Amino acid sequence: MTLKNTGTWGGVSRSFHWLIVALLLVQGTLGLFHDDLPRGTIRLHVSLGITILALAVARLAWRLYAGRPAPLAGIPAWQLRLAGFGHFLLYLLLFAVPITGWLMSDYGDHPVRWFGLFELPHLVAPDDAAHEIMEGRHEQLFWALVVVALLHVLAVVHHHLFRRNATLTRMLRGS
Ligand code: HEM
Ligand code: HEM
Repeated sequence: MTLKNTGTWGGVSRSFHWLIVALLLVQGTLGLFHDDLPRGTIRLHVSLGITILALAVARLAWRLYAGRPAPLAGIPAWQLRLAGFGHFLLYLLLFAVPITGWLMSDYGDHPVRWFGLFELPHLVAPDDAAHEIMEGRHEQLFWALVVVALLHVLAVVHHHLFRRNATLTRMLRGS
């Protein structure tokens, strides 16, 4: 299995990509429906959110080390620039959504624990007004992530079905 991203997306970047997509689906569902789910759902949401944040840090570090494969032939420069900007936004939101969750919890005086094993540092002192604001930011940024991710999926579907190139397959199986 190719590890670094030479020629195609290597196994490490592919694993990070799909693992994070799967966890985000669970995480969004837990967040949106926590009122109707058993008590303790938010604790799971917090722990999973911190896991996603840690995976995003590791993923970005690997991406900076391992690079990215050369673009596929025949894709216009403006589309490559747009895709690059979209990927940049996706990374930004992958950090911003969990960090606003962490800030919201700290402002609300709810210590952030990871699966009951350890407590994360308190980033800010409790503050009710800031807690409300951060709750709004967390939700807005989540919806921004949903919108950008849907545009990202539309672009991938376009390449797969209509341009019939290897954009999707090289992220799925590396060829
Ligand atoms: C990428 C990771 C995350 C995603 C996609 C996500 C998504 C969401 C969503 C969709 C909601 C429901 C928003 C609403 O309808 O009000 C929510 C609520 C919440 N999230 Fe997250 N979240 C993430 C990470 C985190 C983290 C790391 C924490 C804390 C450390 C956190 C703490 C919370 C809390 C406490 C609520 C409940 C807010 C309320 O009282 O309604 N989230 N999250
Ligand atoms: C919330 C969900 C998603 C996020 C946050 C996300 C994020 C990203 C990022 C940041 C990249 C750039 C590669 C990198 O630097 O690691 C990427 C590439 C890619 N993603 Fe996603 N993605 C998501 C969902 C999806 C889905 C559902 C599909 C399948 C339809 C998909 C297919 C791809 C493909 C094929 C590439 C490679 C594009 C290229 O070669 O330029 N992604 N994704």
